[in-house]
This record gives sequence, structure tokens and C-alpha cells, in this order.
Amino acid sequence: MSSESRVVVAVSGASGVEYARRLIEILGDRADVITTKDAATVIEIETGLTTEEFAAGARSAYSDDNLAAAPASGSARFGAVVVVPCSGTTLAKIAAGIADNLVTRAAAVAMKENRKLILVPRETPVGAIALENMLKLARLGVIILPASPGFYGQPKRIADLVDFVVARILDHLGIEHSIGVRWSGPE
Ligand SMILES: Cc1cc2nc3c(=O)[nH]c(=O)nc-3n(C[C@H](O)[C@H](O)[C@H](O)COP(=O)(O)O)c2cc1C
Repeated sequence: MSSESRVVVAVSGASGVEYARRLIEILGDRADVITTKDAATVIEIETGLTTEEFAAGARSAYSDDNLAAAPASGSARFGAVVVVPCSGTTLAKIAAGIADNLVTRAAAVAMKENRKLILVPRETPVGAIALENMLKLARLGVIILPASPGFYGQPKRIADLVDFVVARILDHLGIEHSIGVRWSGPE
């Protein structure tokens, strides 16, 4: 596996950690997982898993206080960073250039190294501060990919909704996949 095919999957304390779990499942040992303290709480509430169980199958798993870990350095050649789900707090820190934990540092590294950075915010309604932060980052080339599944594929299960969003993440990572639905025009 080339180092560029490795993806940092950074999980912050927003609802919707299932999107990250599914992405980790698909990426397997191409994923290096980081969880914030609040993500650990949400993981417990939404899945009943520990962070270790949550990151099963990934190449590595770090807590966000480990600023000595590989994703903290631009010399570690990760191809992309996905923050999924991305809380308003983590979004604001990234937009302000604050790199005070391994998630925000990995995002700052991706930006300074001109690597792909994908944020998957989950909040509704979205306040003006978060909207401004998203616009600022979008103008800097960051992909803002809200956890906002479409319904045109007539989803039957929660897993279908999760796969819709994860499929869009994989598309933006340039990774071939066969999950989710693609619109091919009206019947
Ligand atoms: C169960 C639970 C659900 C949460 N859902 C969201 C959410 O959907 N979006 C969000 O921005 N914050 C959410 N929060 C609040 C964040 O966890 C909080 O703002 C925290 O500061 C995020 O820190 P982090 O980005 O370092 O993980 C939630 C918190 C809990 C405990």
C-alpha cells in the first residue's frame, strides 16, 4: 500500500459516529483513526462500543491528546484527512488555525501540505458562525460534505442512509466502491 493511500479518519464529538464506523470498515488498514474525548462519549452513547472496538480493523487508533502520533507531522505521508462527524467546535478550531489536539493538528497539516481535507459537519439548524467557518474553509479548498443523505434511492434501512454519505466521502477520496446509490436519471 502506498503511503498516499492512507487516510486519517478523525472522529469528533458530533452525532453520527456511524458514518465514521462504516468508513473505517471499508478502508480497513488504510485508515488511521483519531477520536476526541467527546467523540468517545458519543461513540459510547450511539454504538455502545469502546473507542478500541470502534476502530477495529484500522491500521492504528489514537486519542486526540497524542500529539506525538504520526498524523501530527507533515512528514508522515497521509493522503487525506476526513473529519467525520465534524463538530462545530472542531470546525471552528480548524477555521481559526488552532491545532491543539491530534484531530485539529492533522487537519492543519493536511491544509498546509495541500492534501485533501474533508469535513462532515452534523448540526441542525446551522448557525451563522458555523456557516461562516464552512464558507471560509470551502474557499480554501476544504471539502464541506454535510451528513445529509439523499432520499432519491428510496432508502429502506439506516445503513442505506449511512452508505449514501460514506459513498460521497469515498468519491471525494478517489476510492473505488460499490456502496450507496448513484443517480442515473429518471426511469
Ligand atoms: C451525545 C452528544 C451529541 C452531540 N452532537 C453534536 C452534534 O451533532 N454537532 C455538534 O457540533 N456538537 C455535538 N455535540 C457537542 C460536542 O460534543 C461539543 O461541542 C464538543 O466540544 C466537541 O468537541 P470535539 O470537537 O473536540 O470533539 C454533542 C455532544 C454529545 C454528548
